[in-house]
Amino acid sequence: MTLLHVDSSILGPYSVSRQLSAEIVARLRRNAPDLEIKYRDLAAEPVPPLSGAYLAAQQPGAPAPGAEVQQDLALGGELLDEFLRADIVVIGAPMYNFTISSQLKAWIDRLLIAGKTFRYSEKGVEGLAGGKRVIVASSRGGIYSEGAPAAIFEHHENYLRSVFGFIGISDIEIVRAEGIAVGPEQKAAAVKTAQDEISKLANAA
Ligand SMILES: Cc1cc2nc3c(=O)[nH]c(=O)nc-3n(C[C@H](O)[C@H](O)[C@H](O)COP(=O)(O)O)c2cc1C
Repeated sequence: MTLLHVDSSILGPYSVSRQLSAEIVARLRRNAPDLEIKYRDLAAEPVPPLSGAYLAAQQPGAPAPGAEVQQDLALGGELLDEFLRADIVVIGAPMYNFTISSQLKAWIDRLLIAGKTFRYSEKGVEGLAGGKRVIVASSRGGIYSEGAPAAIFEHHENYLRSVFGFIGISDIEIVRAEGIAVGPEQKAAAVKTAQDEISKLANAA
């Protein structure tokens, strides 16, 4: 069984989502020591944003691209294969400016590929990447849960639910620490709540 662990916080050792994603992986590994783990740090090794040249090179009959675009195409293929091969994907997802980090968005941009992870059919859009378990370590400064005054600004977990739902993964699991910026007590309580959730996660199977 293969687990892909992805981090996307730019806060390095101060990151809460990194701490939680590592704890999720450690928790799953405990009962499945043979778990094959692949780690990607999208802040240390950022995925370049999609470029016009990258998309143009994939058009039918396009001329052979230059070395830089070829390298980018190879990276795109590697990221997609890595994702498709994984049985479990653990994602550290901080909230920046009400949504996911641009580092995480750049990675997701390489996964939504027509014919690979979704297709358009007479029945509408069909996700092709189902059968995978996706666990998100969500961390945010404020409070956006249902009923909170700021809930309308929630484009973070909702976005992730939409995007993974679109490719056929409809029930992502979210471990959340929110209110991190409210104060040290709230931060400690939020991390503790998330850790309790981690301890209750189903074993890797
Ligand atoms: C650039 C930046 C933008 C942020 N934007 C928001 C925001 O829009 N809403 C919020 O509640 N917290 C915001 N925060 C606080 C983070 O969500 C909080 O620090 C969270 O722990 C980030 O996850 P991380 O610690 O894994 O990086 C922001 C933090 C940074 C560094």
